[in-house]
Amino acid sequence: MKILQRIKSGHYNRVYEVEYEGKVAIAKLKKPTTLVTTNLDVFLGNTIHGDNRSYNTPTSRHKYEKKRLRELYQRGANVPQILYEGDGYFIMEKLPGETLDELFGHPSQYNAIIVAFAQLRVLHDELRVYHGSTHPRNVIINGRGASWVDWETLLKGGSLKSNQRRDIKILYHDLVRKLGLSKRLQDSIESSYPAAIPVISNDGLTYRPA
Ligand SMILES: Nc1ncnc2c1ncn2[C@@H]1O[C@H](COP(=O)(O)OP(=O)(O)O)[C@@H](O)[C@H]1O
Ligand SMILES: [Mg+2]
Repeated sequence: MKILQRIKSGHYNRVYEVEYEGKVAIAKLKKPTTLVTTNLDVFLGNTIHGDNRSYNTPTSRHKYEKKRLRELYQRGANVPQILYEGDGYFIMEKLPGETLDELFGHPSQYNAIIVAFAQLRVLHDELRVYHGSTHPRNVIINGRGASWVDWETLLKGGSLKSNQRRDIKILYHDLVRKLGLSKRLQDSIESSYPAAIPVISNDGLTYRPA
């Protein structure tokens, strides 16, 4: 395996473009094991944002991501195929395209939002899973649609439905923060994942049951 370049990613620099069996692929390494890197972000999320992410070691998160990717790929989901599993890393196919956040400001941004939500609906309604970290940087958009990556978030508790609502909320809030609340955004969601449109209630924004 030859490293070609590092891909800018979340908090840890551990995703690389590599050459594997003559093709360009993506290698994802597990996070370094220290107490702080393991749990600080989860602790902050849980206490400050009322999040419900599970405390996990880098090893268990890494295992969990591999398992989810393998299962979803086998079930026909549009996720990258794992090509190789090494000690502390795995190699997956490199998907062509750009992440949704790279397309903000681009003429195709609303089409990208539509396919990202449409694919989230497939994951939720057809594959009956939640993603756990539905930020625009974690979905790759190309001519074949959208593919969600970064499957390492295990949520403790919560029903499938509440975890799916959490997915919707994360994506929706990131989009509103970035693009503002607009009819265009509402229409894009309405056409791709109608149940994801929030309604105003006494509790603030809530979401229609899927
Ligand atoms: N299979 C893939 N094909 C192409 N790009 C990918 C792939 N997997 C990840 N990436 C890119 O690498 C970035 C980081 O990967 P990700 O799994 O989200 O790691 P992190 O947990 O560090 O956020 C993604 O935002 C995306 O840009
Ligand atoms: Mg990510």
